[in-house]
Amino acid sequence: MINLGVLISGGGSNLQAIIDAVADGALDASIKLVVSSKNDVYGLTRAEQAGIPTLALTKDDYVDPLAADERIASALLDAQVDYVVMAGYMRMVREPLLKAFPNKIINLHPALLPSFPGAHGIADAFDYGVKLTGVTIHFANEAYDEGAIIAQEAVAVAEDDTLESLEEKIHAVEHKLYPQALQLLAQGCVVIGEDGKVRIL
Ligand code: GAR
Repeated sequence: MINLGVLISGGGSNLQAIIDAVADGALDASIKLVVSSKNDVYGLTRAEQAGIPTLALTKDDYVDPLAADERIASALLDAQVDYVVMAGYMRMVREPLLKAFPNKIINLHPALLPSFPGAHGIADAFDYGVKLTGVTIHFANEAYDEGAIIAQEAVAVAEDDTLESLEEKIHAVEHKLYPQALQLLAQGCVVIGEDGKVRIL
């Protein structure tokens, strides 16, 4: 059993998938705190409906990004979180968080890293015209979207896909793959080797 803190910035469909996996017994975890970088997003409602404590920040709180991350790190430590799960969190995690949770911060990215990093992974892959994109789950570090990869799943782009239909396919894979990858962590099966690469035991 692991304690999770989930970081969001939006609708929180991946937060919901994690909440559901915990409720179904597919993920051996407890969500102790949801932190949102915005105070008016539906993800916060999802957390409240599930009875999970929340911490909502605003743009003003990030004027000093290090102070914001100090505050988030201290709330997550107080909540006795083991792993920090970024689920559509559209802010960089900085030194105070990375130091408080070394190799314990996980990110979800809607493309096959190292291709199409950044805030628009699905649209960037679609606009490029790739035939294959997908979902990546990786450890977060100081380099945006560059941490060791835990899991990936490919999604084929069909000839008749629109950006919207591709988004739906990607989200469906995210909602399945993220809880599965977190369950590997809960089982202690995810190890970072001396070469910096993840090995699944
Ligand atoms: C997800 O598609 C996630 O992969 C993406 O934001 C979405 C959040 O959706 N994250 C990134 O692009 C990170 N660079 P949700 O709020 O419904 O979970």
